[in-house]
Amino acid sequence: MRVLLIGPPGAGKGTQSTRIAAHFDLTRIATGDLLREEVAGGSARGHTAQAYMDRGDLVPDDVVIAMTRERVVKANSKGGYILDGYPRTLAQAEAAYRWAKARGVPFDLALYFDIGTDELLARLAGRAREESRSDDAEETIRHRLEVFRAQTYPLLAHYERRGIVVRVDAVGPVDAITERILAALHWHKANALASGADRPEWAFGAAEE
Ligand code: AP5
Ligand code: MG
Repeated sequence: MRVLLIGPPGAGKGTQSTRIAAHFDLTRIATGDLLREEVAGGSARGHTAQAYMDRGDLVPDDVVIAMTRERVVKANSKGGYILDGYPRTLAQAEAAYRWAKARGVPFDLALYFDIGTDELLARLAGRAREESRSDDAEETIRHRLEVFRAQTYPLLAHYERRGIVVRVDAVGPVDAITERILAALHWHKANALASGADRPEWAFGAAEE
């Protein structure tokens, strides 16, 4: 199974993707976590990324695309992956699609986390009190939400055109949301997804323009 998550900051992508990965034995690839590791390790990529992340802006596409590709191939050979935070722009989505399709590994499903702004702000304020993420200051959170609306939200229509979106109500207790997601993924696994030649045409992105 190859799943990607679309959701605003604080929607619960990290919380839920960890659980989904454990349940289906998938590799979790979280670009935000990977970038924070690069920053902490002092790499050249981390050096480039840090200023963007601290402002709440997206890191340039080429940096994130290069960081993600080989991980996706490796994860696919181990039975599938869940992408938390990638793709995040239409340019990333198009690059990822062309690249993955050429290798026979395009995404099966895009999980959209449906949640309102007030709940996001409350959750991220809670996390800011408990952890110290450099981008969890209130002004930066608001900017990240604007960046999501402008640059990432359009991916929803992009994947809807391809027919691979599963919407999840992302409000409520963590366990209840996990149950909703697992139920949806089990349904798709049983009814819609098949491997290799048996996979339905829509899973390959037949509607891609
Ligand atoms: P990233 O690390 O991906 O951050 P984000 O998308 O802003 O999302 P968060 O990690 O803040 O939220 P989440 O949805 O994972 O929610 P979580 O489970 O933590 O990206 C950071 C930065 O890296 C970006 O701004 C950008 O600069 C860069 N970047 C990353 N990917 C990139 C890309 N592809 N291209 C370019 N740049 C990129 O939950 C949030 C809080 O709520 C937690 O405290 C949690 O405990 C709590 N919570 C979770 N679920 C619930 C619930 N059901 N009820 C109550 N509380 C809950
Ligand atoms: Mg996260």
